[in-house]
Amino acid sequence: MKGAELRRIQACIFDLDGVIVDTARFHYQAWKELADDLGISFSEKDNERLKGISRMESLEILLQIGGMSVSRVEMAELVDQKNRSYVNFVKKMTENDVLPGVRDFVQELQSHGIRVSVASASKNAQLVLRQVGLINAFDAVSDGRMVKRAKPDPEIFLHSSAQLKIPVSNCLVFEDATAGIEAAHRAGMVTVGVGNRKSLKNADTTIPGFAGLTIPKLCSKVYRNGTIEIEFGKEDDNAKKAKIL
Ligand code: G6P
Ligand code: MG
Repeated sequence: MKGAELRRIQACIFDLDGVIVDTARFHYQAWKELADDLGISFSEKDNERLKGISRMESLEILLQIGGMSVSRVEMAELVDQKNRSYVNFVKKMTENDVLPGVRDFVQELQSHGIRVSVASASKNAQLVLRQVGLINAFDAVSDGRMVKRAKPDPEIFLHSSAQLKIPVSNCLVFEDATAGIEAAHRAGMVTVGVGNRKSLKNADTTIPGFAGLTIPKLCSKVYRNGTIEIEFGKEDDNAKKAKIL
């Protein structure tokens, strides 16, 4: 790619819900139960707006959809109710709930010296990772308890880059939510949308999932319509570079 900006990737940051595990459907079911209780009609399309954003902001959107307004105290009770239902789903998760190809790809990255972390708005991130046996698989975890502002604010990705000690321009983010892609771009990172290309238009590139994904395959994708090229590893690490590319 002539004239494309080269980004040397030294860290990969993974969103959790909908990227590593399919918890997005549990969040939806828990919100749907609450919506039914409140008499609010809530669809999967509406749910797309809640992906990647915090629990309280999600409730605000749900109430807005239903044209309802409740006190702060009631809101706190409602998010607790939703969370209890969500945690019940999470407690039934096992190692089999890790999405196809994630483990192999994370291991491939680590075997090439690439740092890996999780950056999730969820306050349940550690619980989910423990439940599916991935709590020790990453170099760092940034979650909703460690930051003040939810995606699309870049704070969680900046937190992750600081934890990993890798500059933002050398980080690549995997995300399934448009709010997450926006947050990563605002942090100055390259983004890979995981899922449907049409609903993740703001991503630099998209993949359907991690099954069969390898570093060379990822490098061969065209980023931001050919304006960014990626390589993995450090510039002076010729042996590693030759092996990876
Ligand atoms: C993730 C999900 C959101 C969820 C948020 C907070 O980003 O995509 O749908 O609302 O985390 O999760 P929590 O587990 O803290 O309620
Ligand atoms: Mg997500």
